[in-house]
Amino acid sequence: MSAMIILIAASIAVVVISSICVVSSPDPGLLQDFCVADLTSTVLVNGYACKDRLLVTPDDFFFSGIDQPRSTDNQLGSNITVVGVDRIPGLNTLGLTIARIDFAPGGVNPPHHHPRSSEVFTVVEGVLFVGFITTNSDTGNTLYAKKLQKGDVFAFPQGLIHFQYNFGGKRAVATAAFGSQSPGLSTVTNAVFGSDPSVPAAILAKAFQLNETTIEWLQQQNWVQNFNYN
Ligand SMILES: *[C@@H]1O[C@H](CO)[C@@H](O)[C@H](O)[C@H]1NC(C)=O
Ligand SMILES: *[C@@H]1O[C@H](CO)[C@@H](O)[C@H](O)[C@H]1NC(C)=O
Repeated sequence: MSAMIILIAASIAVVVISSICVVSSPDPGLLQDFCVADLTSTVLVNGYACKDRLLVTPDDFFFSGIDQPRSTDNQLGSNITVVGVDRIPGLNTLGLTIARIDFAPGGVNPPHHHPRSSEVFTVVEGVLFVGFITTNSDTGNTLYAKKLQKGDVFAFPQGLIHFQYNFGGKRAVATAAFGSQSPGLSTVTNAVFGSDPSVPAAILAKAFQLNETTIEWLQQQNWVQNFNYN
């Protein structure tokens, strides 16, 4: 009996400790100066396999065109251009990603979170209303939000749901920096209403306090992905 209790307690401890480690650990540390991604390799490692050093060139660490405006002609009125290891193979194992975000007037980058990275967000042009919401348990779904203008910087903690909205009459542009080569992106609406296969409507009806007709209507909408790797 007591052995059973100890076993259960030990299992709980292992789960708790490992979940803490997963949540708080950054990308793995470097074991070499660089490991330029071999994007064609089928070898699976934590990241990409390294390209032959003798074939590495300055262009492996280079990307041009982050100054170019992107099309915001979609239902959200926003477009995220991700510059990560797929575009700069030399970023492999360095624990960094950046992005450019374009906003049409009234455009929104809808509530989403990055499971593997915090974010530092800088307004380059225009005015934005941005915010993040804390978890249920910690500080009880508190919204921390602020109006930002050109030159302002805001931080979004890892894993917390956040958004940005262009309430100005002109376009806005921002950059985002991430502390992971794979920050991950989970958009609330797309995950909840746009999953494949769909979450049973009865579950969402209960959860959102709506009837199933409304849920099914929501599930039929086109939940656009507003980021691109082009
Ligand atoms: C984002 O912009 C690129 C380049 O302008 C465009 O090809 C892409 O379709 C846009 N994505 C969305 C979701 O509008
Ligand atoms: C479902 O809810 C919507 C919005 O409240 C309402 O307009 C509609 O009549 C409801 N439909 C049913 C079948 O209850």
